[in-house]
Amino acid sequence: MKRAFVVGYPISHSRSPLIHTFWLREAGITGSYERLAVEPAAFPDFANTLKEQGFVGGNVTVPHKEEAFRLASVDDQVARDLHAVNTLWLEGDRLRGANTDVVGFLANLDQEALGWDGRLGRAVVLGAGGASRAVLYGLLLRGAGEILLANRTFERARALAAHFGPKVKPVAWEEADTALAGADILVNTTSLGMKGQPSLELDLGGLPETALVTDIVYVPLETPLLAKARALGLRTVDGLGMLLHQAVPGFERWFGVRPLVSQQLRALVLADIEGRSQGAP
Ligand code: ATR
Repeated sequence: MKRAFVVGYPISHSRSPLIHTFWLREAGITGSYERLAVEPAAFPDFANTLKEQGFVGGNVTVPHKEEAFRLASVDDQVARDLHAVNTLWLEGDRLRGANTDVVGFLANLDQEALGWDGRLGRAVVLGAGGASRAVLYGLLLRGAGEILLANRTFERARALAAHFGPKVKPVAWEEADTALAGADILVNTTSLGMKGQPSLELDLGGLPETALVTDIVYVPLETPLLAKARALGLRTVDGLGMLLHQAVPGFERWFGVRPLVSQQLRALVLADIEGRSQGAP
């Protein structure tokens, strides 16, 4: 029996076990996917002894992604550029790592808004945390001409923009409204709009009618930002698909079957969200 895991600290909110257990059953594979809380000080020991513990690999979430990058042998260019690993597996005795957050972000948009990157001029990204890094990377990969990055703490936006080079331009949080003029896509990567958090107060009036609005928050599934965009007739994509799609490559590595992000899976996770209503990935 193959055993995989998701490791974080804390970890109780993770919906990854629900996703992978669904896929295991669907594929008729005898395997398991466990949720593990491991403190930062204990993480290196944990990651270096996967084989002894009987694991084939697993997912890594906050706050271990950077440490996982340092511990694993990494060929994956995305993980190298982001200095963050969210998927671990064993190749013989070697600990290998990759980053599937960018693939998750892009695959969600590809599935839900085909052709969204056809004419990607200006993008606006809100937030400058770990999720923002993956989003910026993905938008640049798909040829975004210019990305305006707004964050409450300007210094974080400045530092992240500097990391990505001249196409990413930091803007003041108060200027997010005006930055929307002429934007092809708006992405919220902040926690604003998540259940229990304040909502994102933004005037979307400047967005062209062809713009796409997407949120990485998925609890609630339709955040106040997405509701406002929909009311204006704009295309919207919710954040649940990013969570589901980032899980695909790991499952394929550990269990040897490429799983599908189906309506049935979405419905299962949605039912859990509606039952539990906690917003973290
Ligand atoms: P993650 O790695 O998931 O992106 P994070 O590093 O905690 O998480 O980042 C959360 C983002 O939400 C940050 O951009 C944060 O802004 P700061 O850098 O100024 O902290 C943003 N955020 C959280 N609460 C906010 C609020 N009340 N108003 C504006 N931005 C907020």
